[in-house]
Amino acid sequence: MTSTDKPIPISELISLQGKRAIITGGATGLGNAMAYRFAEAGATIFIADIDSDKAKKSATELKQQGYNAYSTTCDVRQEGSVKQMVVAAAKDMGSVDILVNNAGIFPRKELAQMSAEEFGQVLSVNMTGTFLCSKYVSSKMIEQKRGGCIINLGSIASLHPTHKGMTAYDASKGGVLMFTKTLALELGQHSIRVNAIAPGGILTEAMMNTVKGPPSREGLNELKKFMSRTALGRMGEPDEIARAALFLASDMSSYMTGEMIVVDGGYLIS
Ligand SMILES: NC(=O)c1ccc[n+]([C@@H]2O[C@H](COP(=O)([O-])OP(=O)(O)OC[C@H]3O[C@@H](n4cnc5c(N)ncnc54)[C@H](O)[C@@H]3O)[C@@H](O)[C@H]2O)c1
Repeated sequence: MTSTDKPIPISELISLQGKRAIITGGATGLGNAMAYRFAEAGATIFIADIDSDKAKKSATELKQQGYNAYSTTCDVRQEGSVKQMVVAAAKDMGSVDILVNNAGIFPRKELAQMSAEEFGQVLSVNMTGTFLCSKYVSSKMIEQKRGGCIINLGSIASLHPTHKGMTAYDASKGGVLMFTKTLALELGQHSIRVNAIAPGGILTEAMMNTVKGPPSREGLNELKKFMSRTALGRMGEPDEIARAALFLASDMSSYMTGEMIVVDGGYLIS
């Protein structure tokens, strides 16, 4: 658009009508919230999750609400599984325009107790999974020749250490930030934008389990301490991440690539 053109209506800019989105780890938590918002904005959704039952359930719930949704079982750590997932997504939806690399794990263990295998598992889901899905989905996008959009789930841990016991997680999410930036450099020539979101403390079941572990006074105190550090004084809701993701997936952010949006209620500024 030049300065003399009529601006594109906001409803068109935010719309994902006709777009097809793969969301890894879309069966629960943030991925599930993003699936709903993207579907509401008009996208066809493909949920790729290691948990087959929950993935199917999420897709079924979307369909019951009148949206187009599919699911498949996929382990983002495994190259073969990712390749099959991309073939299935392209077959079911016809093409792929958006990829959200959301599948992630965040176990908590201090270095002395952590085995090399456990450390590797975290990197393997959070980093290698992001690499593999980006590789095979972007190849499809390049073949389609109409651009695309990749959104990676980083974390406030991409920018600042979280707490003890999170070395593997923080290292993996630090890696996601730089992966996002360098991939954006590589894929810009194909009009594929690559951005990331850095959520703060968001109330998903998995997050609560990490903070609290088995319900304990210590865990609750930690949660209170966390909340009191955020400028807004509260934890975030999954939908508050989904809204940022919709911004990145839509033409609202058409000139943005290689960036990470922090959505943390003001945790990092404190
Ligand atoms: N919840 C938060 O506060 C928070 C904060 C910062 C970043 N994040 C990031 O957001 C993402 C989602 O977090 P969440 O809280 O919704 O967690 P969640 O556990 O609710 O969701 C993660 C999903 O990923 C799936 N998954 C796990 N391993 C997989 C694998 N190998 N292959 C495919 N799917 C796999 C799980 O089955 C699950 O459905 C993660 O990358 C996490 O690191 C979350």
